[in-house]
Amino acid sequence: MYFLEDVKYEALELPDRATMTDAEMITSAEAFSTFMTQRHTVRDYSDRPVDEAVIAECIRAAGTAPSGANHQPWHFVAISDPDMKARIREVAEEEEKAFYAGGAGDEWLKALEPVGTDESKPHLTKAPWLIVIFAQRWGMTRDGHRYKNYYVPESTGIASGFLLAALHHAGLTSLTHTPNPMKFLNEMCGRPASEKALMIVAVGHPSEDATVPAVAKMKKPMDEIMSVNPAPTQGNDENKK
Ligand SMILES: Cc1cc2nc3c(=O)[nH]c(=O)nc-3n(C[C@H](O)[C@H](O)[C@H](O)COP(=O)(O)O)c2cc1C
Repeated sequence: MYFLEDVKYEALELPDRATMTDAEMITSAEAFSTFMTQRHTVRDYSDRPVDEAVIAECIRAAGTAPSGANHQPWHFVAISDPDMKARIREVAEEEEKAFYAGGAGDEWLKALEPVGTDESKPHLTKAPWLIVIFAQRWGMTRDGHRYKNYYVPESTGIASGFLLAALHHAGLTSLTHTPNPMKFLNEMCGRPASEKALMIVAVGHPSEDATVPAVAKMKKPMDEIMSVNPAPTQGNDENKK
């Protein structure tokens, strides 16, 4: 990270400008949308290794994400060490046991039923890589003072999305895993208290018999996720709450 005292505003000509015709734009948008429908959260992994260089390149892509004040408040810890993965699995499964035994509450457990998950997390040791994504709640100046980061969950969420898309683009499958709580990951990954683990992304190739839950293919229709020029909801009491 650069230090604020070393940089000032300077305008650069827009780099990497791409221009498309309207027809090219729709073709490109459709192709990307189709490509993204082929991304699936996969919970069953094969033994096929994945080169560290591929993981690093995907994290590089994640690091290009936009962020509040360009503070890039994230850190990605990539883990392939089998012992470390085993330790993460052990603690995560301990927490998942309590979660599935009722800690999650009835409504959450019911929501998870069609996804078919339980407290067993073999992907944490089977997948060749685990990427732990940390959000940096604050940073440190050169002389050891805290500086604020802005829109940390939003920025890190966008970077995480870039990472999942990059992994998919590299021909890999992934699983976003969120053991709860995740504090143990700071110590295990040697990360400071200023950071908060957001998720563990298991990465690898699917096993021959990998499946996905049918519900995962049931995405909301466009009229539920997009409105165009909507009428305002003035006077709607719901918005005042
Ligand atoms: C923030 C977040 C947390 C998730 N946590 C878990 C998890 O702990 N375990 C799991 O098996 N899947 C988890 N998932 C994966 C979702 O279950 C999955 O994305 C959803 O079922 C849709 O499937 P798809 O990713 O194949 O579209 C999580 C996804 C997100 C975005």
